[in-house]
Amino acid sequence: MRTFLRVTLPLLAGLALLAWGAALVVNTTARSWFLRDVTLRARLASAGAQQALAAHLVAGEQGKIATLLDALARDERILAAAVCSPTFSAIASTTGFPERWSCEVLGAARPPATAPLVDLDLAAAGEGGPVHVSMHAIEADGAVRGTLVLVHDMSYLARRERAMNRFTFGAFAVFGLLASVFTVVVRRASWRSWTDELRRLLSVARFPGATPAKAPPGAFSPILADLRALLAEVAGERSSAERGPWSRERLQRVLRETLHGDRVVILANREPYIHERGEDGAVRVQHPASGLVTALEPVMRACSGTWVAHGSGPADRETVDRDDRIRVPPGEESYALRRVWLSREEERGYYYGFSNEGLWPLCHIADTRPEFRVADFRQYARVNRRFADAVAEEVTGPDPIVLVQDYHFALAPRMIRERLPRSTIITFWHIPWPNAERFGICPWERDLLQGLLGSSILGFHTQQHCNNFIDAVDHYLEARIDRERQAVVQGGRECLVRSYPISIEWPNRWAEAAPPPAECRRAVFQELGLGPDALLGVGVDRLDYTKGIEERLLAVERTLERFPHLAGRFTFAQLAAPSRTLIAKYRALNEGVERLAARINARFGSGSYRPIVLERAHHEPAAVFRYLRAADVCYVSSLHDGMNLVAKEFVAARQDERGVLVLSRFTGAARELTEALLVNPYDLEEASAALATALGMTAAEQAERMHAMRAVVAELNVYRWAGHMLADAARVRQRGRLSQRLSMGLRAVDGAPQ
Ligand code: G6P
Repeated sequence: MRTFLRVTLPLLAGLALLAWGAALVVNTTARSWFLRDVTLRARLASAGAQQALAAHLVAGEQGKIATLLDALARDERILAAAVCSPTFSAIASTTGFPERWSCEVLGAARPPATAPLVDLDLAAAGEGGPVHVSMHAIEADGAVRGTLVLVHDMSYLARRERAMNRFTFGAFAVFGLLASVFTVVVRRASWRSWTDELRRLLSVARFPGATPAKAPPGAFSPILADLRALLAEVAGERSSAERGPWSRERLQRVLRETLHGDRVVILANREPYIHERGEDGAVRVQHPASGLVTALEPVMRACSGTWVAHGSGPADRETVDRDDRIRVPPGEESYALRRVWLSREEERGYYYGFSNEGLWPLCHIADTRPEFRVADFRQYARVNRRFADAVAEEVTGPDPIVLVQDYHFALAPRMIRERLPRSTIITFWHIPWPNAERFGICPWERDLLQGLLGSSILGFHTQQHCNNFIDAVDHYLEARIDRERQAVVQGGRECLVRSYPISIEWPNRWAEAAPPPAECRRAVFQELGLGPDALLGVGVDRLDYTKGIEERLLAVERTLERFPHLAGRFTFAQLAAPSRTLIAKYRALNEGVERLAARINARFGSGSYRPIVLERAHHEPAAVFRYLRAADVCYVSSLHDGMNLVAKEFVAARQDERGVLVLSRFTGAARELTEALLVNPYDLEEASAALATALGMTAAEQAERMHAMRAVVAELNVYRWAGHMLADAARVRQRGRLSQRLSMGLRAVDGAPQ
């Protein structure tokens, strides 16, 4: 119907106008032809009768003239004929010669004829229809003897004109009908081939091996060419994402190819470099103990761009420029760090309060009750807004790529989306996501879900956390869940929920820079006062109750109980970085761990032997790697952990393929590092047995296990994590651009057929 109104109706109206014009032209032309024809016939008739008429006139034979006129009028086209004297009095005429063309009337209408022929106006139709009157001078001996008047019947002209009009309009009607049908058919065919083409392009994009697209139909070529270029970019990116091992260079290539070198903006609470003042008064840089920083920092080195973070270091303000920015890493300056300053109240409510007393225990199954206070949530929302504003200041175009990190910023994705509607926001939740029932403990569960759904992609370490999130949406929000695509759709906007297991850089710069393992072992043994036949276990964590540090020390104690031959030989060094110390639970843990270590040392220590070495201090990565390289065993005993990168760092540190990893099965890492000795950290029997097994493991078995784990971490490195996320982000962004172009294109192509 729309096509009829838009295309066929105007076409028919145009054709009717055209037919009318054509009829006019045809009639005028035909009429002039007919007149010429009549004139010719009149001349012939007069020429034929000329001589006889002249003779009869000269001889005054009026009767013969009348007979001749009757003969002339026998021609079916000549209605009547008359001969007038030179003074236009009637000499003879056929019967019924019309009065209105009598010699007297003609003589009054014009001076006596000198010209041989005069045509009178056809419009002056006679009673029987239109006629044509012609006058022909009759000459003899050079003098005009009279005038022959012929009245021609022109009624056939009207008949012919009617017939011609019928034909013209009929022809145009048939032509119009055919043209309409043709237009509709062509449009339908074009539309179908265009949509077929679009489908084919999309299927080629989805399945790169599919038949390549053929040439698009002309009218749609520009749009399809655009689509094809965009899809080729996406497909190209994916195929490059599916090739070979991931490295810093490959990540950079993906960025160049799929994001055209666009710089990303990362929003994460913890900054990668903290400036503080040493005892000597000089400003020093510290690398914070944070899995998030361990993972993201190498990614930022590769991607450049900007990292927006809380400026938490005592000397941070002294080192930034006027815009609160500083180029990092020191000496390399490959990306910008934008620091956001928080007041004491903001930090207390947003960071210590809602983030770390509320969300952190909510998301970890570690028997610590979450505490939710309305004042904390207000600060959390306020600080999220402040960071979202900072992000908006840092982006360069209307559709930037923003990476929002972790539970500190559950509300920020929506806030950023409000500021930058076309941005591609990838939010990564670095900690576990609880089941829906537990999540419902939070009084602001809907706000958090809505905030996160502002993201284009929401990432977790494991599929189980993705499922938990989707269940929470199902429980608490009105939203459409597309389980097949793992997406949440709200108000036409889609948030994909995907798992991206995080990792560390590979090759690992700290491992590369560290002295050889034997040297590290010598140095660390010396530091700890261990004999050459001592066995060293290592733990590296923030002092956090989710890390199972107490359970770890208890497992060491149980090992010494169960395997007395290890007492006096086995030392466990725990590097514990103080963390979130304003929170009572953390202070209590600090004291609890210290008490526990002291008790075990008192129980099993003798002489200079102390089974537990507790080093409660921040350790720079270089020191951590020295310990990891020196150890016989590394025990990661988290009670619940999204991933745990210390486990992977231990594997990276062991180029010598020695050392055993004992790993809690409640970490995300346990899914990948299956050659570790996997334990339940609460089960001290199992954990102590594993520690004893590790300490007694042959070098060959250690190498076999370590070799396998190194291959896994090498492949599933952090460049892959970032590469997959950014490639997905590029796809989402391209799809956004594509649908924008499509809608623009479709507007231009004036509507689909019904
Ligand atoms: C975990 C969180 C990170 C955090 C890190 C250190 O790994 O997922 O977001 O940075 O702990 O905690 P902190 O509170 O010191 O930043």
